[in-house]
Amino acid sequence: MQNHKRPPASLLFIFGGSGDLNFRKLSPALYNLFIDEWMPEKFDIVGIGRTAFTDDAYRAKLLDGINQFSRRKEEKNGKWVAFSQHISYLQMDAENEEEYKNIAEIVKTKEQQYGEHPNVIFYMAVAPQLVPDIAKKLGPLNICADTKCTRIVVEKPFGHDLQSAHELNKLLMSMFDEEQIYRIDHYLGKETVQNILALRFANALFEPIWNRNYIDHVQITAAETVGVEGRGGYYETSGALRDMVQNHILQLVCMIGMETPVSFDANEIRNKKVDVLNAIRKISSEEVHSYAVRGQYSDGWMKGEKVPGYRQEKSVSADSNIDTFAAVKFYIDNWRWQDVPFYVRTGKRLHDKTTIINIQFKPAPHYAFPAEAAETWRPNRLTISVQPEMDIRLRFQAKRPGQSMTLNPVDMIFSYKDAYDGNEPEAYETLLLDVMEGNATLFMRSDQVEAAWKIIMPILDAWESRPPVDFPNYAPDSWGPEDAEALIARDGKNWITLPPLHQE
Ligand code: BG6
Repeated sequence: MQNHKRPPASLLFIFGGSGDLNFRKLSPALYNLFIDEWMPEKFDIVGIGRTAFTDDAYRAKLLDGINQFSRRKEEKNGKWVAFSQHISYLQMDAENEEEYKNIAEIVKTKEQQYGEHPNVIFYMAVAPQLVPDIAKKLGPLNICADTKCTRIVVEKPFGHDLQSAHELNKLLMSMFDEEQIYRIDHYLGKETVQNILALRFANALFEPIWNRNYIDHVQITAAETVGVEGRGGYYETSGALRDMVQNHILQLVCMIGMETPVSFDANEIRNKKVDVLNAIRKISSEEVHSYAVRGQYSDGWMKGEKVPGYRQEKSVSADSNIDTFAAVKFYIDNWRWQDVPFYVRTGKRLHDKTTIINIQFKPAPHYAFPAEAAETWRPNRLTISVQPEMDIRLRFQAKRPGQSMTLNPVDMIFSYKDAYDGNEPEAYETLLLDVMEGNATLFMRSDQVEAAWKIIMPILDAWESRPPVDFPNYAPDSWGPEDAEALIARDGKNWITLPPLHQE
């Protein structure tokens, strides 16, 4: 029996209940919370969708998802039968206002059954363009007026640009208070990303050197080997900059760049993060080409397999100019970071699946050792591997054993796999639990989302007004277009990729 306090009674409505996100991520996450006894004593999950399902058929579909995608499969745990009793399905046309009454009915019934008013959570696992309409129809049900208990969870992308994000914020805030709106960025739920806060603020060691006096530059890489995986329709309206940089990567920049929080209060953390976004230097339209690089993958070979180019993917236009790769150099204009470049890159069909953050320190101010001792001397570097490896490596110089004084770089490594049992919760588990508990620390506030859009708008506008002349410009299984190498090489640096610690 776990010794922790469970969240209060909760009733979850999942719009997009028959969709992929629920199938692959949400249901497995809720199931794992159930196994770990983190689900409330009283809870129900209602999947909402247009497709017809009986409750049993719906449960069978979710079980299939769990067996495919959950970190723990059903056979080993045998908790499915008990968990599935809490799941039902509501077939409904989300465009028909009349049908929303069914939701109000379910809330009333459950309230009587539980003998208390539960948290009512509306999870928008639907295409982004449907969110405003659904939210508008939830408003008149009057369930939302209960600011203590009602919550709406909105997936990314939050808006398509600054203006639409602003309008969506306005609409949601006309019906919900900010405290009721949970804008998800799943990167913030990852263990390794949360650990950045522990590393920075639970250790006295790093803070004194965490600034422009000691740090030369920061690099963030979020690389994927997959292509658009049948999501061409969505990706055609997005691209790498919108899909990854506006949210996940800028959030990582915030975690690395933020000032020390006074407490772990949700608003305190978010204030410190939004300060970073507000301090990021705005790139003018004329400068975009020297700060940002875009790319699109061609067809070619990926680990011995022939793969199509982006323009040949399903639902993608044959002359699409959408970016499947983006690299940007940011500056944070404040006392801590002035003139320290933050290089970020992300892309599909790259050589490795890896998300890593490198903090590159400046060289030691004076080499006291003889020149031959220092031939392989490298400045210190702190590497945070977010995934799939989960580790932190600190590179420092050591004397190579032997009679001569030869130095070479070595790594001090903390690996999650070696230190713990390797069964960390998935990001969605952490985030769903936070929603039920009413803890918004790891969620995006309206001003954060808009500040992030403001940063990338000049790049998006410049790219839209000047179509690329060289697309597709990188081969699968590469590290993206040559221009991305040039972006960082111009400053006398290069992208860092590390060998994995654990070879399978
Ligand atoms: C999503 C993007 O937000 O993040 C996807 O829409 C991307 O395109 C995914 O593949 C990457 O997430 P993760 O957790 O695998 O790094």
